[in-house]
Amino acid sequence: PAALNSLDTFTEEEQMLRETVQRFAKEVVAPKVREMDEKEKMDPAVIQGLFDQGLMGVEVSPDHGGAGMSFTSAIIAIEELAKVDASVSVMCDVHNTLVNTILRKYGTTAQQELWLPLLATKDLGSFCLSEPASGSDAFALQTRARKDGDHWVIDGSKMWITNSAEAGVFLIFANTDPSKGYKGITCFITSAPIEGLEVAKKEQKLGIRASSTCTVNLHGLRLHEDSIIGGIGRGYKIAIQILNEGRIGIAAQMLGLAQGAFDNAVPYTYQRSQFGQPVGTFQGMAFEIARRAVAIQSARLMTYNAARRKEELDRRGAEDADAIAAFAKDAAMAKYWASVVAQDVSGAAIEWMGGVGFTREVGVEKFWRDSKIGAIYEGTSNIQLQTIAKFIQKQYS
Ligand code: CAA
Ligand code: FAD
Repeated sequence: PAALNSLDTFTEEEQMLRETVQRFAKEVVAPKVREMDEKEKMDPAVIQGLFDQGLMGVEVSPDHGGAGMSFTSAIIAIEELAKVDASVSVMCDVHNTLVNTILRKYGTTAQQELWLPLLATKDLGSFCLSEPASGSDAFALQTRARKDGDHWVIDGSKMWITNSAEAGVFLIFANTDPSKGYKGITCFITSAPIEGLEVAKKEQKLGIRASSTCTVNLHGLRLHEDSIIGGIGRGYKIAIQILNEGRIGIAAQMLGLAQGAFDNAVPYTYQRSQFGQPVGTFQGMAFEIARRAVAIQSARLMTYNAARRKEELDRRGAEDADAIAAFAKDAAMAKYWASVVAQDVSGAAIEWMGGVGFTREVGVEKFWRDSKIGAIYEGTSNIQLQTIAKFIQKQYS
C-alpha cells in the first residue's frame, strides 16, 4: 500500500494531514465500523471526533474556525476515511465539498461569518437538491418558494438527504419562479430544528448504512430573504458548479474504498495456503491482484489530477468556459472511473478470500456493499458519461 501512495505531488501539510486522518480512522473509526453498519447509525463520538480533528472545516479559513487547507487536503481526508468506512467518509465529503464550499464561494461576508464557524466546529451540514420525482433530472425540482414580505415560504419534499438525521444546517434548493424553468432555482440556508422542516423517513440501505439518508419535508418553512445564497435564480448554477467539485470527493471516497478492500484482502492471500503454496502466489491470483493494483493507481491519478486542476482554476479565478469544461469533464471522469474500480476491486477482494471473504465478521463484504453507491449519488454513472459526452461533442463538432 505504501508504494501506491507514493505520489510526490503532496505538500508537507497535506502529507501530515494524511497521517492525522489515518490515525483517527484507525483509532476512533475502525473499532466502531461493524457496530455502526449493523445498527445503521453513526456513533456521535465519531462525528465529534471529525469536528475535533478539524476535518469538518478543512478548507474553511482559520478566521472562521477552519483549518485553511487546500482542496486536495479535503480529498485526502475523504480518501483516508473511506479506507476504513465509506459512511464516515461521505459525511465528511458532503459537509466539506458541498455545504462549506457553497458558503465559501457564494455566501456574503455576513453569511460566512454566521455559518462557517458553526459548520467548522459543531453543526453538521446537509445538501437538499434531489426529490422523489427529480433525481438525475435535478433541475426539474418541484419544491417552491413564495415571497411573503421580506420572507420566503418554502413547500416541497426532498429525498435521499445525506446527514439529515444529524444535521443542524440545511441547504435547500427551491424554485422561486417556475415560469423561468430551472433559472428560477434558488439556494436557501437554514438551521434546524425549525418549524416547517421535518426530517422524515430514514432509508434502510444496502451500503453506507451508518450514513443517514432521509426524506426532508418542507411545510410552510419561513425563511428571511437573508437566507438566500448567491442570489435569486442562481441556485441551478451553484448546484451544478458545486457538484462538479463534489464529484471529485466521491471519486476520492471510491478510491479509498478500493484501496481499503485491497489492503484487507491481499495479505490474507499470502497467509492462506492451498495445494502447498500461498493462494496469492498462483499466477491466476497474482495477475488478478496486479490488475487491481493498476486499476486503483489509475483511479488515484485521475482523482488527484482533477483536484489539482480545480485548484489551478481557483488560482486563476477562471471564468473561462473552456477551462471550466475541461475541469468538469475531468471530475466526471474521475468519479465515473473510481466508482467502476471500487466495485470491481471490492468484489474481487471477497473472492480472493474465498468463504472467509463472504462473512460479515471479516468486513470485506462491506466494502463491496458500500461501493455500489458510487455509481448512484452526485450523478449516476450514466449522468457522468452524459456530462463527458456533452463536453466531447462541444469540443469536436
Ligand atoms: N457544469 C456546469 N454547468 C453545467 C453542467 C456542468 N457539469 N451541466 C449542465 N450545466 C448547465 C448548463 O450550462 C446550463 O446552464 P445555462 O442555461 O446557464 O447555460 C444548465 O446547466 C442546463 O444544462 P443542460 O440542459 O445541459 O442540463 P440538464 O437539465 O439536461 O441536466 C444536470 C443538468 C441536472 C446538472 C444533470 O446533468 C446532472 O448532473 N444530474 C445529476 C444531479 C446530481 O448530481 N445530483 C446530486 C444530488 S447531491 C448528492 O447526491 C449528494 C450525495 O449523495 C452525497
Ligand atoms: P433516476 O434519475 O431515476 O435514474 C434511474 C436510472 O436511469 C439510473 O440508472 C440513471 O443513470 C438512468 N438515467 C436517468 N436519466 C438518464 C439519462 N438522461 N440518460 C441515461 N440514463 C439516465 N441527493 C441530494 O440532493 N442530497 C444528498 O445528500 C443525497 N444523498 C444521497 C444518498 C444516497 C444513499 C442516495 C441513494 C442518494 C442520494 N442523493 C442525494 C440522491 C442522488 O443524487 C440521486 O439518487 C441520483 O442523482 C439519481 O437520481 P434517482 O435516484 O432519482 O435516479
